[in-house]
Amino acid sequence: MSNSLKKYANEKLLLLEESMLLRKLIHTNRLNNSKIEIKKNNFISFACNDYLGLSHHPELIEENNKMTIKYGVGAGSSRLVSGNNSLYRKLELKLAKMKNTEDAVVFGSGYLANIGTIPALMGQDDLIIIDELAHSCLFSGAYLSKGKVLKFNHNNIKEVKIILNKNRLNYKKCLLITEGVFSMEGDNAPLQELLELANNFDTWMMVDDAHGFGVINKGKGSSFISNKFLPIPIQMGTLSKAVGTYGGYVCSSKPVINLIKNKARSFIYTTGLPPGVIASSIKSLDIIEKDTELVQKPMQASEYFSKLLNLKKPNSAIIPIILGSEKKVLKLNEQLMENGFLVGAIRPPTIPVGTSRIRCSFTADHKMKDIEKLSEIIKSNI
Ligand SMILES: Cc1ncc(COP(=O)(O)O)c(C=O)c1O
Repeated sequence: MSNSLKKYANEKLLLLEESMLLRKLIHTNRLNNSKIEIKKNNFISFACNDYLGLSHHPELIEENNKMTIKYGVGAGSSRLVSGNNSLYRKLELKLAKMKNTEDAVVFGSGYLANIGTIPALMGQDDLIIIDELAHSCLFSGAYLSKGKVLKFNHNNIKEVKIILNKNRLNYKKCLLITEGVFSMEGDNAPLQELLELANNFDTWMMVDDAHGFGVINKGKGSSFISNKFLPIPIQMGTLSKAVGTYGGYVCSSKPVINLIKNKARSFIYTTGLPPGVIASSIKSLDIIEKDTELVQKPMQASEYFSKLLNLKKPNSAIIPIILGSEKKVLKLNEQLMENGFLVGAIRPPTIPVGTSRIRCSFTADHKMKDIEKLSEIIKSNI
């Protein structure tokens, strides 16, 4: 029995290796100022989502230490039993205020937020319409709901309308899901148009703003358009990127948040976050709210890079260089590493076949001279 299992695993791994899709974990110690240590060598990382460099901020570390000493390193239980440290409420109210919603709920991670929220609201008689490039955990949540899942071509409003016209009346409830900033493309969803469409078809809308919050629209995120908040009914995000800590959240109306707390399995049946993480998240949100200069830096860096490479003006701090083949991606990745740079070498199944890419993410910590060097190496190798 166990031999056949081992044989199965080995065969699968061989197939992945042959198609250059085998993933390997490397030891990476993230240091301050976008430096990363791998096998005792230091690299400048353009492969982190710590957009504001807050994961190393002394005030966050101090808050984390203080509350860890006071409350311990672990929550000890799920939130509904005894793991609901009082700091949670402060964090949730702050998130709700910053997202202009009535309430918020914090999950153990962004992944857990998505796989819990969607099935908490949708069931087998319902329809979920989702952008084809939405993050894997949004798809996982959609499939876990047992509802009908229909994908639409990336950012294609016309197709959403066709799907709604054809299908909406056949289902009880309908949820339209997209991302504020697409994690592998770096582009934005047309949120205003999609929201109008959703409202016209009695459809709810959920936006994952993992890569928008703290970075775009002066740090206020994707739903802050023309100096106003779009009233998107379900706004999801993560604390693990610009906020620099760990955890996920959903902001919505009070009843929706209460329902999620009662129904989301990945909220109910999992241990709460360590108190130090909650405390440092609160401190981080204070900084994001107040430091107007800091929240503009990742966009300034990505704009500078795109100018150097004659690319179109970016809409986020993520810039993909699509090379197509896995071989080209791995080769450029190696050349960049030889020159002291770490980028994301992104291959299927994370992205569609034939679109393998180098993904550069820009942060407040990046220095202009490093961005210039990175762009020179890329320019001379593509
Ligand atoms: C768009 C998007 N949603 C959700 C997640 C999951 O968030 P977390 O890392 O907090 O689990 C990610 C992280 O990779 C993401 O990019």
